[in-house]
Amino acid sequence: MKKILVSGGAGFIGSHLCTRLIKEGHHVVCLDNLFTGSKANIAHLLKHPCFDFVEHDVEIPYHAYGIDEIYNLACPASPIHYQYDAIKTIRTSVIGAINMLTLALENDAKILQASTSEVYGDPIIHPQVESYWGNVNPVGFRSCYDEGKRCAETLFMDYHRQKKVRIKIIRIFNTYGPRMLPNDGRVVSNFVVQALNNKDITIYGEGNQSRSFQYINDLIEGMVKMMNTADDFIGPVNIGNPNEFTILELAEKIIRLADSKSKLVFKPLPHDDPKQRQPDITLAKGKLDWQPTVELEEGLKHMIEYFKNNHACC
Ligand SMILES: NC(=O)c1ccc[n+]([C@@H]2O[C@H](COP(=O)([O-])OP(=O)(O)OC[C@H]3O[C@@H](n4cnc5c(N)ncnc54)[C@H](O)[C@@H]3O)[C@@H](O)[C@H]2O)c1
Repeated sequence: MKKILVSGGAGFIGSHLCTRLIKEGHHVVCLDNLFTGSKANIAHLLKHPCFDFVEHDVEIPYHAYGIDEIYNLACPASPIHYQYDAIKTIRTSVIGAINMLTLALENDAKILQASTSEVYGDPIIHPQVESYWGNVNPVGFRSCYDEGKRCAETLFMDYHRQKKVRIKIIRIFNTYGPRMLPNDGRVVSNFVVQALNNKDITIYGEGNQSRSFQYINDLIEGMVKMMNTADDFIGPVNIGNPNEFTILELAEKIIRLADSKSKLVFKPLPHDDPKQRQPDITLAKGKLDWQPTVELEEGLKHMIEYFKNNHACC
């Protein structure tokens, strides 16, 4: 049994990760300030003898002993939430990374950073390989998130090179699944909620921008596999589903699967919205023996079912 700390463990991805690690028989410490996460997400774990919830902001140093592994997920991930308090977002990424790396150093623990495909910005290379340095606007509305995550990657590398901390970096691409918030502006949850309520589905631009959508279970498998690689493999590694769909195709699929009467409406594209995003997962396939297994339609069915049962009228 390992003692594993998950920062941001009460959020969408974090709660699925905590569940998986508990199922594997580990002791899990979930650290979260409940900004976008909630106790409801981890309600099924709260009474488990090997699960500790600590309400804590990663901007504040955290000290604990006996930690074997750390997954650093704390950071709001949807544009609505990360732009709500941009300074707080970048502080969470940067100061949070320093505090979690310090904790790893103190414990000689392995630490994994949940980075993002946003580090590639509006990419001019397609699909994105890990060696691509990205095309990010440093002064835009998304920069607090994109640049915060880029700086966190730098910090991870520098703690590794300078202080020999055992690190892992994954770049997560668009992920969806149960426990996403219904109102956070992310495209899959947005469309599902609109479809279930037979409301107009809002498409930004003409809907030709392509995206790849990864189901949560595939991501969790990739995260755990990455953590379990040998110490000399640190990444960064793309974890995402390379199957591409346009936003228009996604909307049409959701309308059909939800048996909805929603109509499509078109609005101007927001600032810095990337036109194309698709992971090259050659590295993950080779080094982690990992690739996504859940098809979009299958994942969407789970998602629609979850929203029907939990947020039917949102
Ligand atoms: N969902 C995706 O598609 C996606 C894609 C790329 C990267 N990621 C990364 O994965 C991680 C989890 O994302 P998510 O989709 O689960 O988002 P989420 O908002 O559901 O989860 C983030 C969690 O971090 C917590 N948090 C935020 N600021 C904090 C702070 N200062 N101190 C402590 N806790 C804090 C929130 O309360 C929440 O529980 C994030 O780091 C995000 O950048 C997610």
